[in-house]
Amino acid sequence: MINFENVSKHYDTQTALRNITFSIEKGEMAFITGLSGSGKTTLLKLIYLSEKPDEGTISIDSRELNTLKESEIPLLRRKIGFVFQDFRLLNNRNVFENIALALRIRGINDKDVKTRVFDALKTVNLRHKADYYPDTLSGGEQQRVVIARAIVSEPTVLLADEPTGNVDPDTSAGIMRTFKNINATGTTIIIATHNRELFRDTGRRVLKLDNGNLVSEERG
Ligand SMILES: Nc1ncnc2c1ncn2[C@@H]1O[C@H](COP(=O)(O)OP(=O)(O)OP(=O)(O)O)[C@@H](O)[C@H]1O
Ligand SMILES: [Mg+2]
Repeated sequence: MINFENVSKHYDTQTALRNITFSIEKGEMAFITGLSGSGKTTLLKLIYLSEKPDEGTISIDSRELNTLKESEIPLLRRKIGFVFQDFRLLNNRNVFENIALALRIRGINDKDVKTRVFDALKTVNLRHKADYYPDTLSGGEQQRVVIARAIVSEPTVLLADEPTGNVDPDTSAGIMRTFKNINATGTTIIIATHNRELFRDTGRRVLKLDNGNLVSEERG
């Protein structure tokens, strides 16, 4: 479903990804791992079309991304949920509104927005915090709001960038259970993390980056 063929990405003098080739199957839950600076976030940004490759081709559902017209990009992005490493929550809106925003932009009616936002909040066990503002929540709670915001649009692909970076082991296990449940409904999930605990004994595919190179592909 997602294909990278000989993809490279350079920033100024820095090469973030070098000649990367891999595929992710529809419905798969796969991990991208590697040390800080190895290129994990860059790889996810390329799938999300927030960065463009300098060499090589990326396709989603057999559609080559470099052939997309500007006007087609928002439509493709709608299919993709992104759990940002740096959260990007709006501090002047409460939790409910942060999650509702993407639905409101699409003109979904208030009743459906409400149902879907509360469903998403329930999935991450945060229904009781709907009226809170992000800066009054703990790091782990904010992390879960970011996950709710990513899943509320029912994306076909979920990209999660270090989704347990700020949480204790129990919360982390809860987040991984949530991802597993979402994956079981058919959503393709790619999780970038340096935390080996997340994929240990999962049997899922783990792609390892080292300094921009894809150096191994194993099962967790
Ligand atoms: N916007 C940018 N401009 C210049 N260099 C960048 C930019 N974004 C990333 N890089 C560089 O590209 C390399 C890969 O960065 P990336 O953020 O993809 O790594 P990462 O594996 O996600 O790291 P971390 O685990 O710390 O999040 C790094 O050396 C980084 O400095
Ligand atoms: Mg990163």
